[in-house]
Amino acid sequence: MAAPAPSALPLKAVVFDAYGTLFDVHSVASLAEQLWPGRGDALSQAWRAKQLEYSWLRAMSGRYKPFWDITRDALRHSTARLGLPLDPARETRLMNQYSSLSAFPENLDALRALRAAGLPLGILTNGNRDMIDVSVRSAGMDGLFDHVLSSQQVETFKTLPAIYELAPAAFGCRARQILFVSSNAWDAIAARWFGYTSFWINRAGAPPEQLDTEPDHVGALLGDVVAVATRRA
Ligand code: LAC
Repeated sequence: MAAPAPSALPLKAVVFDAYGTLFDVHSVASLAEQLWPGRGDALSQAWRAKQLEYSWLRAMSGRYKPFWDITRDALRHSTARLGLPLDPARETRLMNQYSSLSAFPENLDALRALRAAGLPLGILTNGNRDMIDVSVRSAGMDGLFDHVLSSQQVETFKTLPAIYELAPAAFGCRARQILFVSSNAWDAIAARWFGYTSFWINRAGAPPEQLDTEPDHVGALLGDVVAVATRRA
C-alpha cells in the first residue's frame, strides 16, 4: 500500500518559537518610552530587527555568540543609530526587561488546551536556555513543555538546519509530524522548508512574505492553533 502523503501524517507534537510568539518582544517599548519619550516604539522595532540580522549573519558565517550577547550588541547599535544615549544603568534596565518579557495573554489557555488534547509541547528558540526558563516561569507556563530546545545546544541560529533538527530528534518523529508555530513569518517558512508542518501566527495582519513558499496554516492568535492541531492529532 502506498505511504500516506506527508500532509496526512498525524501530528505528534506542537513546537513553538519563543520571541514574538509566546513572549511579546515589543513589551520593552514601554520602558524605552519612559527612558526616551516619543522614541520607545522606534527603539523596540530597531532593536528587534538588528537582533535578528545579527543572528542570521552570525549563523551564515559560523560566528556564533549567545543570543543574550547579540541582543545586547543590537541594543547598543540601535540606540547609537537613533541617537539615544545609553549609559550602563539604562542598558541594564533594558536588558533585564528583555529577560522578563510579557507573554501574550491568550497563550496560556491555548497551551493548556493543547496539553489537555494530549499533544506533547515544546519550544524551539534562538534564545539562551536561561532566558527562556525565566520567561516560562514568569508567564506561569511551568510544566507545560516536554522539551525546551535552545540554539545553545547547537551553537547556531535559525534558519540553519542544525537548529531545526533539534525538535524531530527530541520528539523522536519526523519534522512533518510536528506543527511548528511562529509569529515570525520567515521562521514559519524556513521551518516548512526544513520539513515541518508550519503555522504562522499573523497577529499584526502583515502581508505574506514573497519567498515562494507559504506556511501550511495561518491564524491571528495562538488559540487558532488549537483547532488545527486537535483536528490533525
Ligand atoms: C526565537 C526568535 C527567532 O525565539 O524569535 O527563536
